[in-house]
Amino acid sequence: MLAHLLRTAGIDAIVIDNRTREQIAHTHRAGILEHGSVALLTESGARTRVLTEGHRHDGIDVRVDGESHRIDFRATVGESVWLYPQNEVFADLAATADADGTEVHYGVADTVPGGFETDRPAVAFTDAHGVRRRIACDWLVGADGSRSACRRAVGEGALTRYFHEYPFAWFGILVQAPPSAPELIYARSQRGFALISQRSADVQRMYFQCDPGEDPAAWSDDRIWAELTARIAGPDGLALQTGPIFEKTVLPFRSTVTHPMRHGRLLLAGDAAHTVPPTGAKGLNLAFADVAVLFAALRAELVDGRRAGLDAYSATALERVWRAQSFSSWLTSMLHRSESASPFEEMRALGELRGVLASPYGRQYLAEAYTGWPRARAR
Ligand code: DHB
Repeated sequence: MLAHLLRTAGIDAIVIDNRTREQIAHTHRAGILEHGSVALLTESGARTRVLTEGHRHDGIDVRVDGESHRIDFRATVGESVWLYPQNEVFADLAATADADGTEVHYGVADTVPGGFETDRPAVAFTDAHGVRRRIACDWLVGADGSRSACRRAVGEGALTRYFHEYPFAWFGILVQAPPSAPELIYARSQRGFALISQRSADVQRMYFQCDPGEDPAAWSDDRIWAELTARIAGPDGLALQTGPIFEKTVLPFRSTVTHPMRHGRLLLAGDAAHTVPPTGAKGLNLAFADVAVLFAALRAELVDGRRAGLDAYSATALERVWRAQSFSSWLTSMLHRSESASPFEEMRALGELRGVLASPYGRQYLAEAYTGWPRARAR
């Protein structure tokens, strides 16, 4: 996304990724785009199919012990989100890079970034053909995921890393079946959380809260359906559309934030700088928000000769990061059940969820945060 935006401003960018194009295309991640992320894709002129292949969702169903409560995003905050799987976003951006003629190296190895404190940072790597290369640049952007080689290459003590572990994970499945409901269902039950999401007319994505050490192989399809069904069961008789399950994965669940998001001429973006728990689907959206701020700052620096934006990048981006971090952990705490929580804490969290759903202001905050706060203005 950033490479494409830079291209539109006449700024050259080279992209390297240690995974192959096929590996990235086939890695399943979240599927919800904030309206601001959709705007970034469409307004940048990227070759995106989000408006034709994606689906606008105007609300979600928050289901508490089998009773549904719809949050109507349009009525509450006048916005929507789009169901458009992250691998489709990748396919669009990879096609855009092809059309732009952007130099992209997939499947690289032995990446060594460095020189952040000089005027010419660089990255050395072995490309997919086994050729050792070194690219020097003006600015190096570490958008290289939660295990970021760029972040790790920064000297000890220069960055502060905030970290929070949660006592559960998500069991995610992909299933061949029609949707069970028109919108996503976020369910809290005595047996724990479940999320009924979608992918297309005939593929659905569902998750349920599980133990972090859970082995996907220990779960037969029947056992998975029994668990999901029990978590959404209610007097309205809501039933899941079932079918063959063709992927089972356990997703890690942790919050991390790195301060600052810049070190000399290294700029961190996305998961390299922060990860959120999956509840609320903020991961890709936060990365896009970073990119919007970073693009404006790089353009100001490289086209207009103004440094202020890059100096403010970290503080501007982190303001949204902490807001999203708070929202994701808040939603998680209200919807999940923790073995380690006291009975008081269980009832308190349920009381909080019921309070939010009963209040127009509570619903409004949830809808605003879920659909995405307004983007920071470029400096
Ligand atoms: C999906 C994932 C999420 O974490 C979420 O909150 C909503 C949807 C998904 O994969 O579809």
